[in-house]
Amino acid sequence: MRSNEASRLARNRLWMGLDDCNNVDDFRELARRRLPGPIFHYIDGAADDELTKDRNTSAFADCDLVPNVLAGVEEIDLSTTVMGRRMEMPLFFSPTALQRLFHWQGERAVAAAAQKYGVYFGISSLATVSIEEIGRMGDNPKLFQLYIHKDKALNHAMIEACKAAKFDAIALTVDTIVGGNRERCLQTGFTSPPKVTPSSALSFAAHPQWTLNYLFREKFELSNLKDHVAEGTNVALSVADYFNTMLDQSMDWKTAEAVRVQWGGQFCLKGIMSVEDAKRAVDIGATAIMVSNHGGRQLDGSRAPFDQLAEICDAVGDKIDVICDGGIRRGSHVLKALSVGAKACSGGRMYLYALAAAGQPGVERIMGRLRAEIERDMKLMGAKSVEDLGRSNLRWR
Ligand code: LAC
Repeated sequence: MRSNEASRLARNRLWMGLDDCNNVDDFRELARRRLPGPIFHYIDGAADDELTKDRNTSAFADCDLVPNVLAGVEEIDLSTTVMGRRMEMPLFFSPTALQRLFHWQGERAVAAAAQKYGVYFGISSLATVSIEEIGRMGDNPKLFQLYIHKDKALNHAMIEACKAAKFDAIALTVDTIVGGNRERCLQTGFTSPPKVTPSSALSFAAHPQWTLNYLFREKFELSNLKDHVAEGTNVALSVADYFNTMLDQSMDWKTAEAVRVQWGGQFCLKGIMSVEDAKRAVDIGATAIMVSNHGGRQLDGSRAPFDQLAEICDAVGDKIDVICDGGIRRGSHVLKALSVGAKACSGGRMYLYALAAAGQPGVERIMGRLRAEIERDMKLMGAKSVEDLGRSNLRWR
């Protein structure tokens, strides 16, 4: 992401704190300062040359918003309905793995922020807090991101746990059939759980606050996997090796349909990029798709969600909830995606930098800033509700 002048001012400071963070880029800088290198680069990094990661955000700059004025916008409504649940704003927390590694509060901090802002919170199969505990936290909508493992009993158990914990939706990850080539992780030796190597030792020692929290707070674990697989909790391995050895590469449309049938509730496919697959998602009874390339962490050189959004919305936007996932750094990005036809947007790094930098207050601050941007920009656009946004508001350069 290109830093603006204000973020460059923040970056030049010797000391930086929560109050200095006004946007995602500022939180990225604070996270960079506060995290050991291997952890920061795991969040910040992506596949190969990271071209797709960069494009996920820069794609939004290829079109401009055209405002309508004099619309009487004293009271406006930011809410939207996604996978059967109302959200108070059209942006939510994508599921992401390993959150207690980034900050000791982990998923609990993000769940609390989701509650505060009335939006979906997604937890990953590779979460560090259990489905049961998240299920007990608040009544905001909850999404579980399922990775299909070779261990069929594990897949079955996770789906049943989601039912028991009254999750609202399951998102089946479909873009991670093998691990992406994360070269930053190869350089830093990042593993789950983290391993101290000669090169990482210095970085852990230079960030004592993170290291003491990791060593002396609740033990790190992959809570939803640990009773079935030791890898990731007691056996250290890279995320790519985890994907390559533990996940079921034979997963296909029949597998997806079987998950939907066992689950029986709102069902999303996370990582759909082609129109053909979007139509097939409708055919197997999915109720939503996340147009996503996994934050550019899988197939570098693949298209950005925002670039691909119009053709997908044209094909299935009236049959299924289309969520634009990835690259969101500003409220105006959300407005652009909604104008094209998305029901809502979601993002990972957008809140992970804030979580890593400052825990729950960080996540709440960035979500508050983004909410304020969405509200301000809707007023400036003359939009009283998300339905007022449409393609007539947009021009491509
Ligand atoms: C990643 C997985 C775990 O991208 O979502 O690292």
